[in-house]
Amino acid sequence: MERRTKIIAIANQKGGVGKTTTVVNLAAALSARKRAVLVVDLDPQAHATLGLGLEKQQGVSLYPVLLGEKPIEDVIQPTKWNNLNIIPSEVDLAGAELEFGMREDRLEMIRNALAPVYESGAFDYIILDCPPSLGIVMTSSLVASDGVLIPIQAEFLAMDGLALITGSIERIRQSVNPSLDLNGIVFTMVNSQAKLTHDVMEEVRNHFGDKVYETTIPRNVRVSEAPSMGTPVVFLEPRSKGAESYKAFAWEFMAKNPTRFDAPARVAEPATQAAADEPVKADNAVASDNVAEAVADSSAENSAAAQES
Ligand SMILES: Nc1ncnc2c1ncn2[C@@H]1O[C@H](COP(=O)(O)OP(=O)(O)O)[C@@H](O)[C@H]1O
Ligand SMILES: [Mg+2]
Repeated sequence: MERRTKIIAIANQKGGVGKTTTVVNLAAALSARKRAVLVVDLDPQAHATLGLGLEKQQGVSLYPVLLGEKPIEDVIQPTKWNNLNIIPSEVDLAGAELEFGMREDRLEMIRNALAPVYESGAFDYIILDCPPSLGIVMTSSLVASDGVLIPIQAEFLAMDGLALITGSIERIRQSVNPSLDLNGIVFTMVNSQAKLTHDVMEEVRNHFGDKVYETTIPRNVRVSEAPSMGTPVVFLEPRSKGAESYKAFAWEFMAKNPTRFDAPARVAEPATQAAADEPVKADNAVASDNVAEAVADSSAENSAAAQES
């Protein structure tokens, strides 16, 4: 039977390329399409946590789970929006690189921590927001994942940056995680006026072919304003160019990564469709309690608890 939950790491060793913005808005757009989503914020800066309207809270992150101090269902938090849950980040995660660097299971630690949630089948997508370095947290995230999505900016030396991360993916594929897939590359903060942008996009498309998402995300001021409101731009300003692009991107992503809904093979839906703008109302929530229960049940019985959407 095909596994239903897909674990996708959103990664790039470079900071400021739009990883967190992509995590937050992809997750939001997927949840609006009734996919059950869990975001795991692995960057101690906690921008995904804040961007989804939560505060940092000591002891509420993957950190105590990695230490074996808490079961994972204790750190899964609901957001204000239906189908959208998060394991927040906290400052302590900053120590993880040093602290866990010598652990024997350091490569598998995130995979092992996520296993009960993964096996519960409670989520369609688990999306990991990786810190900007090729350190142990990012490596362990890639080991835990089915696919890696790389956001990049179309700028000078983009190919060099891609070579670094695709090299890491290849090494992990050849060792600890043979099923790791390059999910795709998405261009962020695109300035379509610039000739360099077009040249770089063409070079990357020539090299990576259909691994490059058709949808690109334009630079848009609404996107950069949304985090201070603790609301993804796809909910805050659904008609803005940035929001429309992230919604179109989510359609393309779902088509390429079907889960229980068995998304149709078409790539894009008219992004102006009103329904796509509305976060799902609370009564069809994958309520956080149910998620916690499903996860707890499955870790107890190791059964795949079917979760209603
Ligand atoms: N499409 C966009 N248009 C305008 N600003 C953006 C866009 N995407 C990201 N930003 C801004 O760029 C900065 C870096 O983005 P972020 O997602 O935090 O990158 P990363 O997680 O890779 O470090 C943030 O201030 C963010 O608000
Ligand atoms: Mg980030």
